[in-house]
Amino acid sequence: MKKRIGILLSGRGSNFEAIARQALAGKIPAEIAVVISNKPSAAGLERAREFGFEAVSLPSKGLEREDYDRQVIRELIQRRVDLVCLAGYMRLLSPAFIRAFPERILNIHPSLLPAFPGLDAQHQAFEYGVKVSGCTVHFVDDHLDHGAIVRQAVVPVREDDTAETLSARILAEEHRIYSEAIGIVLSGKYRIEGRRVIVDEVCDAAKSSTDSSGGFGDARSGSE
Ligand code: GRF
Repeated sequence: MKKRIGILLSGRGSNFEAIARQALAGKIPAEIAVVISNKPSAAGLERAREFGFEAVSLPSKGLEREDYDRQVIRELIQRRVDLVCLAGYMRLLSPAFIRAFPERILNIHPSLLPAFPGLDAQHQAFEYGVKVSGCTVHFVDDHLDHGAIVRQAVVPVREDDTAETLSARILAEEHRIYSEAIGIVLSGKYRIEGRRVIVDEVCDAAKSSTDSSGGFGDARSGSE
């Protein structure tokens, strides 16, 4: 039985698109049940419609966080969503939202957390002068960019990089590891001890995803 994913986004939606392609190709045992955006103009909504998915515009402007989240929760529950994936969703979730989907909300962040949480993480990392950066898929908890880490990928910073070229290589890794993380979570073959997400085995969920190397490539360089 395919699991049902609800995507929340606010912008261009390239991570959504990468997940959708993996799902449509049968690489992750899931289907996109709905794509919801708090920004009516989000390019990701239009893309979702082109794919033929249900795309819901729910403007958040002027609404209290709890009131808005209640609407989103209702939409997700109506569609029997098993997993919520934040894909460039530029809003903090209320505690009520997190409680509605315990251990069932993932986020992708374009840095190696816990370094550089918050906005413009790639620029923050670049300006700081780090020699490696990357991206992180994590469960969402009550704190910003903080929950238990499911998957990370390392991207070395090159001498001739700009924040933009670095961001582009990080994005390519984001597209790879988000589906891997979804595969792991949907397989249920993991446990959480403290902050550690321990994957029981090198499960098909991770192998069957975007990684053509066939490996468990969490620390693989994205720059070669
Ligand atoms: C990505 O860099 C993601 O890590 C961050 O927001 C950006 C969204 O990009 N959370 P896209 O809309 O998926 O292209």
